[in-house]
Amino acid sequence: MKKALITGVNGMDGSHLADLLLEKNYIVYGVERRSSVKNRTNTAHLERKEHFHFLTADMTDQNTLYRALRDSEPDEVYNLAAQSFVGSSWDIPKQTSDVNGLGVLRMLEAIREYEHDTQRKVKFYQASTSELFGRMVENPATERTPFYPRSPYGVSKLYAHWITKNYRESYDMFNCCGILFNHESERRGIQFVTRKISDGVAQIVHGLSDHITLGNLDAKRDWGYAPDYVESMWLMLQQDRPDDFVIATGETHTIREFLDAAFDVVGISNWEKYVKQDPRFMRPAEVDVLRGDASKAKYELGWTPKTDFQKLVKNMVESDLALLDPQGWRQI
Ligand code: NAP
Ligand code: GDD
Repeated sequence: MKKALITGVNGMDGSHLADLLLEKNYIVYGVERRSSVKNRTNTAHLERKEHFHFLTADMTDQNTLYRALRDSEPDEVYNLAAQSFVGSSWDIPKQTSDVNGLGVLRMLEAIREYEHDTQRKVKFYQASTSELFGRMVENPATERTPFYPRSPYGVSKLYAHWITKNYRESYDMFNCCGILFNHESERRGIQFVTRKISDGVAQIVHGLSDHITLGNLDAKRDWGYAPDYVESMWLMLQQDRPDDFVIATGETHTIREFLDAAFDVVGISNWEKYVKQDPRFMRPAEVDVLRGDASKAKYELGWTPKTDFQKLVKNMVESDLALLDPQGWRQI
């Protein structure tokens, strides 16, 4: 059986990737960091699986990463751990840079040391992002589009992207960067705009709130479905040679269009009266539009997105309606 190590396993992508790799008969080791209260909302269902194991490590502590490698002896490492919320990267820029940027260097150094000590080879996936394109200089963006990050988060991921490529070229490591555009699911963190909206709609339907407070409604994002996207991560590491790939749907939608679709699921057309705007949720520098061209992934990996925008929104809203009403919202 193949073995995989996933950092950030309790996050949205980490938990979906763990599900996928277990289905593919891997032994999966999921890295979580120490916390006083464990956050296993997305991974509670994995706790009793025979081939799944939690390990404790931290991207800010290289020895713990090395130990995680020794304990799991992985064929593949998926580095998904990050301070992933763009908005917070202005509040905690050093921590964001340490975890997202230098954390990747620590992991690469730990892998080099592990490969040297054990004479084993490890394939490495780095979670790069469409935030690298930021103020897009080409639309849609491809693997050849120049980067222009617009946040401390984007800049931290730029370092991570280039150090991963540099170690591939310097040390012949099997390192891949997936430049993933926004992807969402029922397991998305509650601060991100899609989940904030799906949860807000559910609260309004259940009479728990009468509005959602948001920031910029005109930004556009290329939104896909996370379970589709984690498959691309796995595909990258199954190729004969390491490379970088854009993963996207090629469509872009405004936050307003997401609101249209989300309120439509519950039969509300005049959502404007349920939405307030607050400058607190505006960003010092905004990424106005993102749209990607995943042709290379289509031809070289055979990857295409399976879930369209309407279905993504419907899945998220219905999941939040059900979460807030265990009796079943359809009865209301
Ligand atoms: P997420 O839900 O925020 O998950 C990130 C995980 O990283 C969390 O489990 C978090 O643990 C963990 N983490 C944070 N700091 C850590 C540290 N110092 N040591 C160890 N673990 C740490 O993010 P996601 O949406 O699944 O995204 C996964 C990765 O893909 C991230 O690197 C993100 O930047 C990148 N990405 C995401 C998207 C997207 O649209 N979702 C697009 C492109 C790239 P705690 O729970 O303890 O905080
Ligand atoms: N979070 C949030 N909350 N965003 C809002 C709000 C709000 O109340 N109102 C408007 N927005 C706008 C943001 O200004 C941004 O333009 C857009 O909604 C999306 O914000 P997020 O959902 O927070 O995601 P993101 O695009 O900034 O970042 C996500 O995608 C990146 C890939 O492009 C994250 O998953 C990153 O980790 C990822 O790299």
